[in-house]
Amino acid sequence: MSIDSTEDLFVSGLKHAYYTEQRLVDALEELEETSSNEELQSGFAEHREETKTHVDRIEQVFDQLDAEAEAEEDPVVEGMIEAHEEFMGKDPSDEAVDRFNIAAGQKSEHYEIAAYGNLIPMADQLGMDDAADTLEQTLREEQDELETLSEYGEQFDYDELEAAD
Ligand SMILES: [Fe+2]
Ligand SMILES: [Fe+2]
Repeated sequence: MSIDSTEDLFVSGLKHAYYTEQRLVDALEELEETSSNEELQSGFAEHREETKTHVDRIEQVFDQLDAEAEAEEDPVVEGMIEAHEEFMGKDPSDEAVDRFNIAAGQKSEHYEIAAYGNLIPMADQLGMDDAADTLEQTLREEQDELETLSEYGEQFDYDELEAAD
């Protein structure tokens, strides 16, 4: 299938976002389970619940397009998951895992923000106002999560990381 229209580009982006959000539901569980800090664990658990809603919202947008919801493998999210697995294989301390997980979460939020930041103007261009509003709700939650994670990163206690080895 060739991609040569705004709608094609929009649908292609939507399929990748659908795949990404579904993979992130699992990845956030992994981030929660491998983190030791309780605040971090509950933060990941909360965003996991939001992420399930992100999956549902993309299904609504496919519905508005009168199309079947379809996921297309996204190599970027797969790469991020692989990077986490590799890191976990290097016998990291609990504190090192926590700091890594904050950064891993931030990277996924930046990626999602970029994806939605491009899908929304395409929905606008296509006259799909409801779809744009739906995706905008998700974008705001990704931005809030990025802010929360950035605060965790700024408040991170590096002395504990140093004391651990
Ligand atoms: Fe999301
Ligand atoms: Fe997210």
